[in-house]
Amino acid sequence: MGCKSSHVYAPRMARALVTRPLPDGWLDPLLTAGHDAEYLADEPITHEELVRAAPGYDALICTITDRIDDEVLAAGAGRLRVVANIGVGYDNIDVPAATARGIAVCNTPGVLDETTADLAFLLLLAAARRSSDAEAALRNGEWHGFRIDAFLGVDVHGATLGIVGFGRIGQAMARRASGFGMNVLHHSRHDTGREGYVADLDDLLARVDAVSLHVPLTDETRGLIDARRLRLMRPHAVLVNTARGPVVDEEALAVALDDGVIFAAGIDVYEREPEVHPRLLAAPHTVLLPHIGSASEATRRRMGRLACSGAVAVLAGERPANLIEP
Ligand code: DGY
Repeated sequence: MGCKSSHVYAPRMARALVTRPLPDGWLDPLLTAGHDAEYLADEPITHEELVRAAPGYDALICTITDRIDDEVLAAGAGRLRVVANIGVGYDNIDVPAATARGIAVCNTPGVLDETTADLAFLLLLAAARRSSDAEAALRNGEWHGFRIDAFLGVDVHGATLGIVGFGRIGQAMARRASGFGMNVLHHSRHDTGREGYVADLDDLLARVDAVSLHVPLTDETRGLIDARRLRLMRPHAVLVNTARGPVVDEEALAVALDDGVIFAAGIDVYEREPEVHPRLLAAPHTVLLPHIGSASEATRRRMGRLACSGAVAVLAGERPANLIEP
């Protein structure tokens, strides 16, 4: 009965809710620290299930498709101490609401830049050279031999690339472009002081042969590339989006491709994932991928571990390097 005052108690280990099963090794920092990590189902849980489950956990390990709004945060408030997002973008989380409720939010910066830039460059090459159209024709039995005038694309080497958003991923894209002999211009909200900076986005769009988007989704960037801005681009231009779907007006993009306002598009992210605008699916010269920018095994494992390390730090009362400030 009662406890001896000399007894040294082990710190209470935390319960973390993981919103979907993840491969072995991704949650190691949590487990090594002695915390419990629990899944509720074999499939990603729904928003409703998340709201119901939130009060029972100290940490929530989620991904960019989980909507962590104030309903989830309010349900968890009191016990929930940290939301760790396996993703660098965190537009799925209401960070100000979390902060107001004393819940920390972490993400995964720095570990997916090169992998995502690889995919952005793949999309640029594939869209410019129409590799999806050409491969589809081959697979459909429509290839009847070499033709001198078939599947003509545009050159990437020697072209000018405009990078919109010059953070870590934008800069990684610039390095790849330089290696391919491209000229590189970039635009961001603040003057980078770097060579190739163009202060006015409209000006950049009119001057380049290809545009690659690397901005986060915010109120400012939603619909950034709309019908008007697409018309500023050159008719042979290629648009690449590996950032967030709503940065581009998808219908306007489909119309621009149909009407030859721009030449091609390489797209990995969509306005209403997993839906893709039917006009975009039917538009010419498109390479459409299902949001796989950071999807290499090593990178996704690093992302899982970084998110968990952030959660472990918060649970230990420390300030993680990957804490998001509102
Ligand atoms: C991110 O991290 O934000 C990507 O979109 C998913 O890897």
